[in-house]
Amino acid sequence: MDLGIKGKVAVITGAGRGIGRACAVSLAKEGVHLGLNELDTESGKQAVEEVKALGVDAILVPGDISKEEDVIELFKKTYERFGHIDILINNAGISPKLPFYEITAEMFDKVINVNLKSNFMCSKEAFKYMKDNGWGRIVSLSSLAGVMGGIKSAAHYSASKAGIIGITKTLAKQVGQYNITVNCVAPGRIDTAMTRMLPESVQAELVAQIPLKRFGQVEEVAKVITFLASDGGSYITGTCVEIFGGYTG
Ligand SMILES: NC(=O)c1ccc[n+]([C@@H]2O[C@H](COP(=O)([O-])OP(=O)(O)OC[C@H]3O[C@@H](n4cnc5c(N)ncnc54)[C@H](O)[C@@H]3O)[C@@H](O)[C@H]2O)c1
Repeated sequence: MDLGIKGKVAVITGAGRGIGRACAVSLAKEGVHLGLNELDTESGKQAVEEVKALGVDAILVPGDISKEEDVIELFKKTYERFGHIDILINNAGISPKLPFYEITAEMFDKVINVNLKSNFMCSKEAFKYMKDNGWGRIVSLSSLAGVMGGIKSAAHYSASKAGIIGITKTLAKQVGQYNITVNCVAPGRIDTAMTRMLPESVQAELVAQIPLKRFGQVEEVAKVITFLASDGGSYITGTCVEIFGGYTG
């Protein structure tokens, strides 16, 4: 299936590993050029090399996505390189695991800034570049913890991911007139470094609760995101697609 996005340009945050890196590869396979953000320069460089080998052009703009100046730089550099920006994948995130009574106000701010404020700042910056194009796609990473509340995930993480659903639904209403769609995906348990931080016994307990009896793979999340970012998703906006492997809580 031709997804109709060959030659488009996407910005992806936190693209060095995990779901962000899988999105970079998936979009590159569709012929999408990439402006990649990553806090960890080394993994960011590797991501750029990997997608270039698939035949697209890509740049790394290292930076901390919770800082406004880094966000502005990411979009500016991407626009200077490619001349247009069509797709934004708001992916970067952190997930410290703590009971709510151990979370300090400072820790709360950090998670909200990295996971949620970044989403607002990047979406706002992307809109500037997309609004006159007559076409745009914003896809963000929420989470099962944002939809259902977290058992293993922490309260600040869950709040940030629920906030992403709120921003998504509001932006979808406000930018639809520019033919920009805004959606999020809520992955359940996906096999990444974030999940592997949990003790093995906890991982086994989680798998037992999932009807498909396994964690999801990053590629399975990236395929859904790529579809939402494509022409195939042209009449889908304001939604949160749950990728839970059948888990219902
Ligand atoms: N893995 C899961 O099971 C799961 C489930 C639900 C939602 N998610 C969400 O999907 C997204 C990706 O998760 P993942 O599992 O691939 O995580 P990951 O930890 O493997 O990758 C996250 C990437 O973001 C980068 N990053 C972190 N802070 C940053 C910052 N301030 N600025 C720029 N980059 C930064 C990291 O360096 C890393 O490369 C996150 O938003 C996460 O909350 C993951």
